[in-house]
Amino acid sequence: MVYYIRFLKTPRLQKQKIGALTVSALICITTDLGDAFLAQDEDLLVTLRLASDGKILCRGRLQWQGGKRELPISMRPLPVRLAEQPMILEVKPCDSQSAGPDSLLDQHEIPLIISGWSAAFGGPHSPVSEKLIERRFSINQTTRLSVWEETGNSIARHIWDAAIASVIYLQQLITGDQLQSNKALQRLLRSERNTPLHVIELGSGCGIVGIALASLLHQCSVLLTDLPEVKEIVTKNIAAARPARLSSLQYRPLDWEDKLPDDFFDGPSIDLVLVSDCTYNADSLPALVSVLGRLIKSFPGALILVALKRRHESEGVFFDLMQSAGLKTLSLHRIELPSQHGKCEEIELYCYGGVER
Ligand SMILES: C[S@@+](CC[C@H](N)C(=O)[O-])C[C@H]1O[C@@H](n2cnc3c(N)ncnc32)[C@H](O)[C@@H]1O
Repeated sequence: MVYYIRFLKTPRLQKQKIGALTVSALICITTDLGDAFLAQDEDLLVTLRLASDGKILCRGRLQWQGGKRELPISMRPLPVRLAEQPMILEVKPCDSQSAGPDSLLDQHEIPLIISGWSAAFGGPHSPVSEKLIERRFSINQTTRLSVWEETGNSIARHIWDAAIASVIYLQQLITGDQLQSNKALQRLLRSERNTPLHVIELGSGCGIVGIALASLLHQCSVLLTDLPEVKEIVTKNIAAARPARLSSLQYRPLDWEDKLPDDFFDGPSIDLVLVSDCTYNADSLPALVSVLGRLIKSFPGALILVALKRRHESEGVFFDLMQSAGLKTLSLHRIELPSQHGKCEEIELYCYGGVER
């Protein structure tokens, strides 16, 4: 279970009576579900930077104390002239990758705490930054991801642990690190292609998994889908994405409870369906599996990659429903995410297909 630095109050620039400036914010360090706070002490590095070129304006250390639910940040006194330029606030753990710019998503070095960057504030922007937080990831030496989340409690508009594991797994498959575990999916991702690989992600949330795949893989056309409420954040993330050569990203609303639109079946055939952390709600599983079943019926050669973190027993019905829908488990891979006090937590990644292979 990794932990995410979140803004409870996004950074705010205030002029003090004496003429100096203050930047203040309120953060917490919590799980994807927001149901628990980091219970160990952690030193944090807080950096105020120029939004334009990242130049450091002010930097300080703070300690998150296990057992607390929030941590105020206050940077002052700052020179008044700083108010003229847009700035951002970066909050990250002091240890491990603090020397590097991003959170490194590498199988050997998955961070326990995911750093965060605010939206720009000050200058022509509002003195209070938007209710957003940016995650910056390095997936390999050349691929970097910038993914925005909302700061509120929406299930859809932030990143979940299974998505972190999915990105790492896809990267491993593409680079050839997982040759034995999932030959069918690896073959699909690594095959020479003259036409794009067509991928659809269900319940994409912010879109991190599909965006990572389109960034890692050439000739890969990814359609991100979710409820209409994600449109704004996912569109922002698509705009910030840097797809690989001849790859593309699109978003389209798709509610599993609705009939799949006819034009889903008129276009090019789908090769891969991505599903990350969508099995937590047993009530929506019949609808989700029904969509998967219909996609595989129309595109029998497609593979499905389902990443999940077991949260409660009721999720087990997912596997029965998949079996009843004729969807066969081709492989299971596990990725361990770090957890506090040196423990780990498993994410399960299942590959399904309509036919054995
Ligand atoms: C826990 S979030 C996971 C988001 C993202 N895949 C990730 O791993 O970061 C579950 C996602 O499923 C979506 N979802 C839930 N019910 C849905 C439905 N009926 N139709 C489409 N998407 C749905 C939610 O909107 C949400 O984005």
